Amino acid sequence: MSISEEARIAAHSHAAQSELPPALEASGISKAFRTKRSSLQVLENVSLTVQKGEFVSIVGPSGSGKSTLFHIIGGLVKPDTGTVHMNGKEVTGQQGHISYMPQQPALFPWRTIEDNVLLSQEVQGTVDKETRENARYWLDKVGLGGFEKAHPHTLSGGMQQRAAFLRALLSPQELMCLDEPFSALDALTRSDMQRWLLDIWEESRRSVLFITHNIEEALLLSSRIYVFSGRPASVLQTVDVPFPRPRREEIIEHPDFIKLRRELSGWMREEQRKMQGHPPTIN
Ligand SMILES: Nc1ncnc2c1ncn2[C@@H]1O[C@H](COP(=O)(O)OP(=O)(O)OP(=O)(O)O)[C@@H](O)[C@H]1O
Ligand SMILES: [Mg+2]
Repeated sequence: MSISEEARIAAHSHAAQSELPPALEASGISKAFRTKRSSLQVLENVSLTVQKGEFVSIVGPSGSGKSTLFHIIGGLVKPDTGTVHMNGKEVTGQQGHISYMPQQPALFPWRTIEDNVLLSQEVQGTVDKETRENARYWLDKVGLGGFEKAHPHTLSGGMQQRAAFLRALLSPQELMCLDEPFSALDALTRSDMQRWLLDIWEESRRSVLFITHNIEEALLLSSRIYVFSGRPASVLQTVDVPFPRPRREEIIEHPDFIKLRRELSGWMREEQRKMQGHPPTIN
């Protein structure tokens, strides 16, 4: 089957999924951070959707407002305008609806790695022998076997990042929001983590919203990519990624992949250039 045929079939099943309310619908989100004398517009009328079982990525320049959007989706920050709906229900400003991996690993220093990883399940009161065994299985799989009882400060930055990733993965909420989950990892570990995430996602079809600076990673993992402009961030482009699943790393050599990568890199470079030409305007 050709890639275009498979893409057509994928689009068809996507349409069938779309009859359900989206896992996430952020509409018309704007946000400015204000102090007494200044105001910094960070998000400008941003709308995006994650259908149930979709893997969606956001790429955009540093400082454009991607993490701020996650804080809004997670209910940690209130938007000035706009709404957040999950499964058709408005949840703007409410916490507890997403499984969230923040950009900084944010592990609790007094808890062991295993207890950090099981935090969300503990909050939900669902930790038993089986969930502990499952956590140990995954800790082992991401190279943290033997560190179950260690405390976060005794781990490297990349190890802490992997523990924070597992915590999000094992959280029960349907929508996972991952903010640059692999940025602190070396190339080989990163590639392993991408492979696992791809396998797990293809098996479980959880809904995922993923922030990354790595265009190749976004193209390898996602069904759709939102390209953000520089600050104030708005959606500059929406790119449907047509490659069939299950995906293999070999697709990075496919001419269509190379073409998309070049296109996305061009947009990103242009936005970065614009941001460098316009230092933060605080008025
Ligand atoms: N709580 C806050 N108060 C004031 N300004 C903030 C706050 N949080 C973020 N900002 C500002 O909002 C802008 C966007 O920040 P944000 O962290 O959302 O960017 P980002 O796109 O995630 O960047 P990066 O790719 O570097 O992680 C930055 O200029 C930042 O200084
Ligand atoms: Mg960020």
